[in-house]
Amino acid sequence: MKVLVTGGAGFIGSHTVVELLDAGHEVVVYDNLSNSCEESLKRVEELTGKQVPFVKGDILDRECLEEVFSKDSFSCCIHFAGLKAVGESVEKPWEYYHNNIAGTLILTDVMRKHGCKNIIFSSSATVYGEPAEIPITENCPKAPCTNPYGWTKSMLEQILTDMQKADPEWNVILLRYFNPIGAHKSGRIGENPNGIPNNLMPYITQVAVGKLKELGVFGNDYDTKDGTGVRDYIHVVDLAAGHVKALKKIEEKAGLCVYNLGTGHGYSVLEIVKNFEEATGVRIPYVIKPRRSGDIAVNYCDPSKAREELGWEAKNGIREMCADSWNWQKNNPNGYE
Ligand code: NAD
Ligand code: UD1
Repeated sequence: MKVLVTGGAGFIGSHTVVELLDAGHEVVVYDNLSNSCEESLKRVEELTGKQVPFVKGDILDRECLEEVFSKDSFSCCIHFAGLKAVGESVEKPWEYYHNNIAGTLILTDVMRKHGCKNIIFSSSATVYGEPAEIPITENCPKAPCTNPYGWTKSMLEQILTDMQKADPEWNVILLRYFNPIGAHKSGRIGENPNGIPNNLMPYITQVAVGKLKELGVFGNDYDTKDGTGVRDYIHVVDLAAGHVKALKKIEEKAGLCVYNLGTGHGYSVLEIVKNFEEATGVRIPYVIKPRRSGDIAVNYCDPSKAREELGWEAKNGIREMCADSWNWQKNNPNGYE
């Protein structure tokens, strides 16, 4: 299939482009490079031995999108493009709603005008808020989000759902990612956060490489096995493979589908530290800090729907996730710079 990959230069997008090309699909990457750089795509070309056609463009730029859709006929769009920093979204809600929501409205309008009504959307476990059940199935009700970033995902799910209901020619797959970590085995592509990382694994790898002194563990008084927060970490290459499976589902006329993409296993912060140390031989000093506002105690999914309907399952365990995150960081201490 010929696929437009918005946000394809980013962390999950670049890994997905590798899997798509390896599976024989054609891609065009559309990215404004606001949180990425073209170097990731050069490395994707090196890894796959294939060219990656790239358009530097914004999903808010209707004219640019029109041009892209008039040059090529796409069977589907995998839509990663969006802003994703939780803390920043609290400070700049307008920018987040504008970029993520207005951008997606323009993108889907241009898509339908050009007869492309197939979309795979990057959603998040954040739409479950404080989850009503653990493990979380797709039937678990959505709940109020704690920040504007989360609301953009929740609202966009609703918008795409309503569009599909009104026009059943649309096929919409909402993929709710749990906590993506790890990197391509080659260590050539990986996560490249700006400034001090907010998320756990990039923080740990920066401590390991000596850029940061110690990890702050946000709270050890949660009702969990060791008091620290529990999450469902998933290897980014497994997550990327889930998109290839979703594409197959789209080809079979999916209608509207929602899938959790996680492993179904929950690990606490201290278990991640221990696994990282054992997988890499690098010690991670840490101190216990107060809880981070907006955090929940436990969050992991039941991934059986994706297994049954997509034939997808995560293959990498926590040791591989830790080893691959470290392999990327130690070979690229300054990311793509
Ligand atoms: P990322 O920031 O690495 O990738 C997003 C890409 O979108 C970047 O390359 C950025 O330059 C681009 N982009 C942003 N706004 C754009 C715009 N207006 N026009 C064109 N391009 C634009 O993030 P990621 O971790 O790869 O996440 C990909 C998607 O998955 C995002 O939508 C994110 O919200 C979602 N998601 C990520 C996680 C996670 O933990 N990484 C979890 C759940 C959901
Ligand atoms: C966060 C976002 C979520 C987003 C996801 C992926 C918040 C509240 N949630 O999820 O909306 O979809 O990232 O981008 O920001 N931790 C530490 N020390 C650190 C960093 C994290 O102890 O320096 C702990 C956290 O308290 C949590 C766990 O590690 O228990 C995982 O945190 P993180 O990687 O930020 O992911 P989430 O909070 O699950």
